[in-house]
Amino acid sequence: MSADDRFRAPKGVHDVLPPESGRWTEIVATFAARARRYGYGLAVTPMFEHIEVFQRVGEHTDVVSKEMYELTDKGGRRLGLRPEGTASVVRAYVQHRPTPPWKVWYVAPNFRYERAQKGRYRQHWQLGIEALGVEDPDIDVEVIALLAGFYRDLGLRDTRLLINSMGDAETRPAYVAALRSHFERHGDALGDEFAERVAANPMRVLDSKVEPWQDVIESAPQLGEYLSDAARASFEAVQAGLRALEIPFEIEPRLVRGFDYYTSTTFEFQSAALDAAQSAVGGGGRYDRLAEEMGGPPTPGIGFGTGLERIVLALDALGVEAPSVGVDVFVVDGLGSEGGTTVGTMVEALRTDGFAVDRAYGGRSVKAQWKLADRSGAGVAVMLGRDEVARDAVAVKDLATGEQIEVPRTGLVAWLTARRDGAT
Ligand code: HAM
Repeated sequence: MSADDRFRAPKGVHDVLPPESGRWTEIVATFAARARRYGYGLAVTPMFEHIEVFQRVGEHTDVVSKEMYELTDKGGRRLGLRPEGTASVVRAYVQHRPTPPWKVWYVAPNFRYERAQKGRYRQHWQLGIEALGVEDPDIDVEVIALLAGFYRDLGLRDTRLLINSMGDAETRPAYVAALRSHFERHGDALGDEFAERVAANPMRVLDSKVEPWQDVIESAPQLGEYLSDAARASFEAVQAGLRALEIPFEIEPRLVRGFDYYTSTTFEFQSAALDAAQSAVGGGGRYDRLAEEMGGPPTPGIGFGTGLERIVLALDALGVEAPSVGVDVFVVDGLGSEGGTTVGTMVEALRTDGFAVDRAYGGRSVKAQWKLADRSGAGVAVMLGRDEVARDAVAVKDLATGEQIEVPRTGLVAWLTARRDGAT
């Protein structure tokens, strides 16, 4: 590694800085507002856990077996950096035993040692929710509606919702056995990796994109044919709920998703604005056995995660305008050292009144300050000079048109408020 590389972010990770971070602020705030309206509270869990917590997610999944960042701390503990949010939230549920239903949301970084490319990073951020303790398919519908509504809030058009049912504990073993026997019968020429996947978990073959495997995948038995009456009724109730809310969906029997914990409903939103290989913008499903597997009481659960970076990529590709991160007002100090604390006090008062205000520091010339005002992105500059102080007024300039007027000091807040609200 060259000295230059040492002081750059490692491969596959990114800084998120202004102005791009303005989009992040908007996305997280939009999600927080929507989650609150559905009765979800924020859950913040540690970035690392005992490795067993994540192994519960599925030892045969790529995320755990190949991509997890594992470390041993100075006390000899084996830890993993969080590769996804569900395991940590369920661990917190099992540890603290809140009264179900327990509905939480999160925004958190996840770590996966993936082949870094556009839309696929070694640290990515997810917004997500988890709802524990509810078996009713109404919650499946609510969780999907929350995510669909969030994308709508952001202007993320062109998403497709795919849904599937993974069956329940009763029916899954029969299906897995049928699938394994199909793959063993028809896939003996497909090599070691195929055989290994079939042995470990044949369902993980279904969503593979490996070209030579496609024929045998196409002809494989479908889980839908193996659903128990209860699983089928629940899946149908979810579909009826989505129809009632006018949320369009497609049933995708090959939607398996990357974790072993899924049971019954699974879903994924794909965006046409993303590259085909990374088209999933969000996904989730039920995990009705995970809490029990972590030593907790039997507790059904459902949730989703949606990648912040992918949302930003999709919004950019769709040309959805990012919110401005500039300030509303730039204050130009025409008093210099004779002004003492006058300008600082006025800036603070405006901020207290709810305006986003910036200023120059360090006794810059008035000319230099006007340049900064132009660059600040503010719509208005407020200038306080000796003449203005004498008249107990301020000069107010529209930075777009260059038009300047004088406003009494005591009327400044009212004037700025009226302008912001579109009255002038
Ligand atoms: P996941 O499908 O692995 O699910 O990830 C959820 C979302 O995170 C993906 O749809 C994608 O937008 C984003 N994502 C995943 N990996 C990367 C990456 N390497 N780079 C950029 N973005 C990425 C889960 O993690 C489950 N915990 C979701 C869930 C919650 N299921 C139930 N509850």
